[in-house]
Amino acid sequence: MANTVLIGSQWGDEGKGKVIDVLTADADWVVRYQGGNNAGHTVEVGEQKYVLHLTPSGILRENAKCIIGNGLVVDPLGLTEELQDLEKRGISIQERLFISDRAHLVLQYHKELDGAKEAKLATDKKIGTTKRGIGPAYSDKADRCGLRLGDVLEDDFEEMFRDRIATKNAMLTVLGAEVLDPYEMIETYRAAFNYLKPFICDTVPMLNTAVRDENQSVLFEGAQGVMLDIDFGTYPFVTSSSTGAGGVAAGAGVPPHSIDDVIGIVKAYTTRVGEGPFPTELFDDDGTELAKVGNEFGATTGRPRRCGWFDAIVARYAAMTGGIDRWALMKLDVLDGFETIKICTAYDCDGETIDTVPASITKLARCKPIYEDFKGWNCTTTECKTLADLPEQAKKYIKRIEEITGVPVAILSVGPKRASTIVIE
Ligand code: GDP
Ligand code: IMO
Ligand code: MG
Repeated sequence: MANTVLIGSQWGDEGKGKVIDVLTADADWVVRYQGGNNAGHTVEVGEQKYVLHLTPSGILRENAKCIIGNGLVVDPLGLTEELQDLEKRGISIQERLFISDRAHLVLQYHKELDGAKEAKLATDKKIGTTKRGIGPAYSDKADRCGLRLGDVLEDDFEEMFRDRIATKNAMLTVLGAEVLDPYEMIETYRAAFNYLKPFICDTVPMLNTAVRDENQSVLFEGAQGVMLDIDFGTYPFVTSSSTGAGGVAAGAGVPPHSIDDVIGIVKAYTTRVGEGPFPTELFDDDGTELAKVGNEFGATTGRPRRCGWFDAIVARYAAMTGGIDRWALMKLDVLDGFETIKICTAYDCDGETIDTVPASITKLARCKPIYEDFKGWNCTTTECKTLADLPEQAKKYIKRIEEITGVPVAILSVGPKRASTIVIE
């Protein structure tokens, strides 16, 4: 069976959690390979709503085993709380969840540094991070002074932790932030480390066995989105990891050729939470309506998401850099009540028409979207079960997205629940 990667193809929050959950019905493994608890992946099952930050969304289906891969940065307090909450809600995690001993730890000083660095930046330079310590933790990894989950199993871990705190306290002092008491920190973390220890292992051999096995299928669950990628996103208004399909090999420890299929997740419009350029952002009633109908509030921080029309330039760029084979087009139902719906097909930048995403964010900030208008369908799509059930105008809208991006839509989502999903053959 195929090994599939699902990647966010805009600025995150496209609905990755829902698609992973739907596809996990037929999957043996679900693997996170980058990011941390900056992610918030929502899954609605019946009347229950789950928001997963570090745990792969496949945990909600008993048939699947889940891996938190080496490419993540893991906040042990956040993960412990999340797992204990799942257990309280009757979700089994024992023998089903494996945490890579190579994944890096996000510790209190990373969160403090994240907040203190943001506070120091001028208003127009603030990234609007989730303040989960993601940037500082990945910085330590690259700087070779990070602590990993596997270190927690070592006898001298407490000494290593105290050493790091002393070094980081010097940095916190420079930034005018409060320093941390090493002994207090060890006490704060003790219960979480003890809880997590049984889950920590070498995930690489088990995952490589699975991806090679013709009878097993593996889903790789991307977090964030291509426009937040450290290389291909709107740098520096990005997160600190490789969010695209390219991140899988490095972040899970499997060969690139073990991936058979890449699914790009896009909303039928666009949202962004945090700062940075966003060419199709709306500041009018349509923007307010998208936010309201789409209930666009961050699943991790609760911040309102900025909203705009579908940007086909962004989607095509994501498809190119990620090798996207198929789209999962999400939240089509949110457009049900609009008179006119727009797709951005090119940018006007200083009088020049461009059709790709420039590296320069000052250039991207000057890009004005060139739109194609579509007549709205003005009826509800949530009950549609097949493509044929959809109103003609909605079909036209989808077809045009396929034409401009050169990628077919294979999954269509018309509501947050599992049942509101149309799989197109
Ligand atoms: P993720 O980070 O990509 O997993 O996405 P989030 O969970 O942060 O945000 C997506 C939101 O949209 C969640 O509240 C989902 O329950 C909701 N959602 C997913 N698919 C649909 C859909 O097709 N229609 C509607 N109305 N909501 C959806
Ligand atoms: P999911 O997986 C949307 C954004 C933050 C900020 C930038 C950097 O739910 O799609 P960070 O804390 O990572 O250093 O913040 O990235 N960001 C997200 N936006 N969805 C996410 O995850 C995000 N994770 C980070 O808002 O702009
Ligand atoms: Mg999210």
